[in-house]
Amino acid sequence: MQQSDWLSQKEFSLNESNAFWTKEAEKLDWITSWKTLQSGSFNTGDIKWFEEGELNVCYNCVDRHLDKYADKTALIWEGDSPDDYKAISFDTLHKQVMRFANVLKKIGVKKGDVVCIYLPLILEAPIAMLACARIGAIHSVIFAGFSPQSIEDRVNDAASKFIITADGGFRGGKKVALKENVDIAIKNCPTVEKVLVVEHAKNDIQLEHGRDYLYHLLANEVGEQCDVEPMNAEDPLFILYTSGSTGKPKGVVHTTAGYLLYASLTHREIFGVRENDVYWCTADVGWITGHSYVVYGPLANRTTTLIYEGVPCYPAKSRFFDIVDKYQVNIFYTAPTAIRALQAEGDEAVLANTSRDSLRVLGSVGEPINREAWYWYHDKVGKSNCSIVDTWWQTETGGIMISPGFAHKQKPGSAMKSFLGIEAAILNKDTSKEISGALSAHDYGALAIKKPWPGMMRTLWGDHERYMDTYFNVYKGYYYPGDGAYRDQEGDIWISGRLDDIISIAGHRIGTAEVESVIDSHHAVAETAVIGIPDAIKGEVIYAYVTLERDSIPTDQLKKDIIAWVRKTYGPIATIKVIQWTDELPKTRSGKIMRRILRKIAHFEEAQIGDVSTLADPECVPALIEGRIDYR
Ligand code: WTA
Repeated sequence: MQQSDWLSQKEFSLNESNAFWTKEAEKLDWITSWKTLQSGSFNTGDIKWFEEGELNVCYNCVDRHLDKYADKTALIWEGDSPDDYKAISFDTLHKQVMRFANVLKKIGVKKGDVVCIYLPLILEAPIAMLACARIGAIHSVIFAGFSPQSIEDRVNDAASKFIITADGGFRGGKKVALKENVDIAIKNCPTVEKVLVVEHAKNDIQLEHGRDYLYHLLANEVGEQCDVEPMNAEDPLFILYTSGSTGKPKGVVHTTAGYLLYASLTHREIFGVRENDVYWCTADVGWITGHSYVVYGPLANRTTTLIYEGVPCYPAKSRFFDIVDKYQVNIFYTAPTAIRALQAEGDEAVLANTSRDSLRVLGSVGEPINREAWYWYHDKVGKSNCSIVDTWWQTETGGIMISPGFAHKQKPGSAMKSFLGIEAAILNKDTSKEISGALSAHDYGALAIKKPWPGMMRTLWGDHERYMDTYFNVYKGYYYPGDGAYRDQEGDIWISGRLDDIISIAGHRIGTAEVESVIDSHHAVAETAVIGIPDAIKGEVIYAYVTLERDSIPTDQLKKDIIAWVRKTYGPIATIKVIQWTDELPKTRSGKIMRRILRKIAHFEEAQIGDVSTLADPECVPALIEGRIDYR
């Protein structure tokens, strides 16, 4: 789509929104048509789309392509070792999903049951998800890096009777245990009746008689035909847990028709997908990005989708781009944290021996992409030939909400435009009034969405009150995602980071992402996280945790240089009081920096840090405490 087409589409989508959503919904395959396009409101929290309509998500992602595209490659799997790979056609996917669905039925899974999926990134992960969708079971994918405690919390919250897992996985040349974690977790999960185990790593595992079943044995006992279950448009498709700023994880619930429509529409339009593209989103299916942009969006659009079980730099630092070359990937979608990590390894090791000429679109998701990473991604990875597509969205939104898309001019660091059919507003945090004019990086408001959209979550599993309080009762009449944002002179949106990550220095509100981006752009720095610490005169000042590039030497002079750099680049109001060098920042397994932990450490409140088991490397916490600088 040209930019001019996109703009007229945008106008149509907002001015005639019913016609727009109707046109898009007609691109799905329905069993029964809907009567009511949309009902409910943000105030009442009872939003429904396409009520009375019936369809099946698996049918839309697989069966409907078989007529003409049965032999087209649906999924490519690349294992941890470059010697392990497989590709399957839509026809094979269809057969494997039907067999998997029959196995689920055999162990007693019924429509409406919650099935937990705890699998490595192997073909059986998307197959299991689609098999659930086929028979109307609600999946709850638990990221395979999560601890037994996380499994226990999620299984119990949804009172799930079924878990699908594997005998293990591979990451960076090492075997990972999965079944053992399930065994520990379900000691405290009274609802679990059956555990289905996929063989993959050939780990030694224990099977409990009458509870645990090997998938491949049951697969031999069932047929290969399985009809699709007609589902109501508003039947839940899946639950996905995400952490809130407080309390236990929230079970975000997405439903059938609206979610599928929104995942497929955004995938098609934002990345500009073409029929013969090979598309690779590096996310794990344990995250929403893996749901919407590894499985449902791409498969509904008949896109050949790559999944990779391993880690970015194994066995070679160039592995990501070796894979791009190996499969001639056209669209690549990853997170800024991965981009920065690769950049820090050096161009010679990461890029020199790969061509990357097949790439056309480079996506980014998860946090604001800082200018330095943006330029490296654009100039080096994409050789200045690719569009950089930043994408702002959340587990709760189901799909991308704000993005330049491939059709727009490039503006490093700005997420730019709300998507077709989506109206974003920026609210004054004190008065709750919409701000219409331009703001600035130092003066931003609360991002909000003005009207219901099909892909939005419908509730939090078992806690509708929390749903209302977190998202709809903060600013009445709006969906409130919890992020700050501002618009520039051209009306483009910039995300300034979570509103709970704001530092207020001498009355100036400063977004952590903004300062981090400036520090990151210093040539010696690889990655940064900043938080506010109390200051008698300014209210708050900055405590910066800084990871240096491999070849940089941590000296006091370098600290002074960085402080001067920030004064110069950002402005003197961004007062950095402390820089602590660190080899590693505390990150969740999806790569998000846990500022909550950094804040506790810098505030000398480590006794209240609490559970660190969701961190990729919990060991970095004692090291951070050890290296803390006493500024008091
Ligand atoms: C942040 C991931 C800036 C944001 C899809 C949001 C971003 C939260 C971006 C949701 C981006 C995600 N620019 N910030 N492009 N993408 N975020 O639920 O704070 O894991 O609220 O969904 O990540 O994270 P979640």
